[in-house]
Amino acid sequence: MGHNEVLLSVNGVKAIYNHAITALHGVSFTVARGEVVALLGANGAGKTTTLKAVSNLLPAERGAVTEGSILFEDLDVTTARPADLVRSGLVQVLEGRHCFRSLTVEENLVTGGLGRSGKRAEIAADLEKVYAHFPRLKEKRHALSGLTSGGEQQMTAIGRALMSRPRLLVLDEPSMGLAPIVVQDIFRTLRRLNREEGLSILVAEQNSTVALKYADRATILENGVAVLSGDAVELRNRDDVKAFYLGQTPSPAVPNTPILPAIAV
Ligand SMILES: Nc1ncnc2c1ncn2[C@@H]1O[C@H](COP(=O)(O)OP(=O)(O)OP(=O)(O)O)[C@@H](O)[C@H]1O
Ligand SMILES: [Mg+2]
Repeated sequence: MGHNEVLLSVNGVKAIYNHAITALHGVSFTVARGEVVALLGANGAGKTTTLKAVSNLLPAERGAVTEGSILFEDLDVTTARPADLVRSGLVQVLEGRHCFRSLTVEENLVTGGLGRSGKRAEIAADLEKVYAHFPRLKEKRHALSGLTSGGEQQMTAIGRALMSRPRLLVLDEPSMGLAPIVVQDIFRTLRRLNREEGLSILVAEQNSTVALKYADRATILENGVAVLSGDAVELRNRDDVKAFYLGQTPSPAVPNTPILPAIAV
């Protein structure tokens, strides 16, 4: 597949919290139109910080991008309002499957379409599309979200994001806390959305095995540094990636030291 047109470019981004803690030390990667790109790394590697930078949500966390640039097509992300980013098609599903617990599944989904001020008929059509991709949600449409399973809540959060008609869907650890079979189901659905609707996807994951199975390319972060980037198939076959990220040998004994050689990306 010729993925040539760059949709998102993150260039040498440095990010800090509270004017003091440096979380990202010059992270660069791109997402081309039609691609699924995974951002991998252990606890505290900087995945969420990177995704928040991409949606310009760091200021709300007393954080800031202090160097580098982020472009979504022609839009300068670091000066755009988060709501404008959503309106232009960059939509994020935050870590921790946020749903309105006291609304039904369907009401949660509908809230995703409201920002677009879509017409009633459009919202109804989008809803049917979401249900086609997530049949579980159709079954549970009248259940209160707070009473649905973790997997159903994650699907609801993704479905709500789809209701705002993203062109780039950004997801922060969709696998977190879910059973392996549910994780596979969610990733398979994301892949289908990508293939059938041309949806571009940027997904942060600690679960490298599943992410590398479904992504086209990946970037690995360690302590705020992008240490490795490449084709998902190639990364999956590298011995160092297998050893340290795919759980095929014991983890390194010393935490918080770089476990891959720093390679310029
Ligand atoms: N709001 C915050 N204020 C200060 N420091 C923060 C804040 N959020 C994250 N950090 C720090 O920034 C670094 C990167 O954290 P981040 O949450 O981006 O990592 P992560 O890869 O998403 O980790 P996880 O897999 O645990 O979600 C960590 O050292 C973390 O302690
Ligand atoms: Mg995180």
